[in-house]
Amino acid sequence: MTQWPTRIVLVGAGKMGGAMAVGWLQAGLKASALAILEPNPSEEIASLAASRGVALNPAKSAPPDVLVLAVKPQSLDATAPQIAPLADARTLVLSILAGKTIANLKARLPRAGAVVRAMPNTPAAIGRGVTAAFASPEVNAEQRRWTERLFVAVGGFHWLTDEHAIDAVTAISGGGPAYVFALTEALAAAAEKLGLPPELSMSLARGTVEGSGELMRRESGTPPAILRRNVTSPGGTTAAALAVLQSEGGLDDLMARAAAAARARAAEMAG
Ligand SMILES: NC(=O)c1ccc[n+]([C@@H]2O[C@H](COP(=O)([O-])OP(=O)(O)OC[C@H]3O[C@@H](n4cnc5c(N)ncnc54)[C@H](OP(=O)(O)O)[C@@H]3O)[C@@H](O)[C@H]2O)c1
Repeated sequence: MTQWPTRIVLVGAGKMGGAMAVGWLQAGLKASALAILEPNPSEEIASLAASRGVALNPAKSAPPDVLVLAVKPQSLDATAPQIAPLADARTLVLSILAGKTIANLKARLPRAGAVVRAMPNTPAAIGRGVTAAFASPEVNAEQRRWTERLFVAVGGFHWLTDEHAIDAVTAISGGGPAYVFALTEALAAAAEKLGLPPELSMSLARGTVEGSGELMRRESGTPPAILRRNVTSPGGTTAAALAVLQSEGGLDDLMARAAAAARARAAEMAG
């Protein structure tokens, strides 16, 4: 397995940056290899730093092997002057900032060369995220392996060959957890409309989504279409529901329109 980078500086340890830091340490990154810059560390991050010896807001830092940017996109302008000295020609800048293009990042970090732009998603917090990333031409083979190492520690990982594809990834896996939560809410609301009590309705909906996700994970060799067919007897009750879901304007069309709207918004926000 690829070596970890020797030195990583994580800028911003909020929901996503914090989840990644926890995942890296759990996956075997040495605490001494990590420094975190975070003005308002959560209790989890503060106690992790204290118990494991991760440097939290060190007074001085030299350019590391990997500078991970995980602040809010709108904080980039304010953060850039502070972090620009940490990115030199040897540093891999690894950004998870939604909407910030490689050109945009390079404009704010003038000495930076290699930049990876990645889009993770929130299940990374439990080591079950999925991330896709695009690398600028300066990113070398070792830096690619480091990127894979850092994201595989918190879930699945895929390289993209076109930076624009990040907008589509944002629309699918970036926002996808919210779509699945919305599906759960819709299933619970449908249960109530059928006369079931609210608590039972939500419990059935949650359990169904959780269990189906886990089943899909365990049966990773079986396409979802087969899993669906396996629980759909011809002419039965599930078939009656799927006929509605798969009708014109049904789930497939709705999902395609939702994803297209998200991608259009991502492209609009890019800068
Ligand atoms: N959450 C997601 O689903 C998701 C998915 C993909 C990508 N992303 C990207 O991940 C990034 C972080 O999102 P998040 O949800 O983790 O946001 P978040 O919880 O707000 O985390 C950002 C953290 O950065 C800190 N920060 C602000 N200025 C800083 C500075 N100058 N130096 C160091 N740290 C600074 C913030 O502190 P304060 O609270 O004091 O401002 C905050 O703790 C965003 O760019 C987002 O686009 C998020």
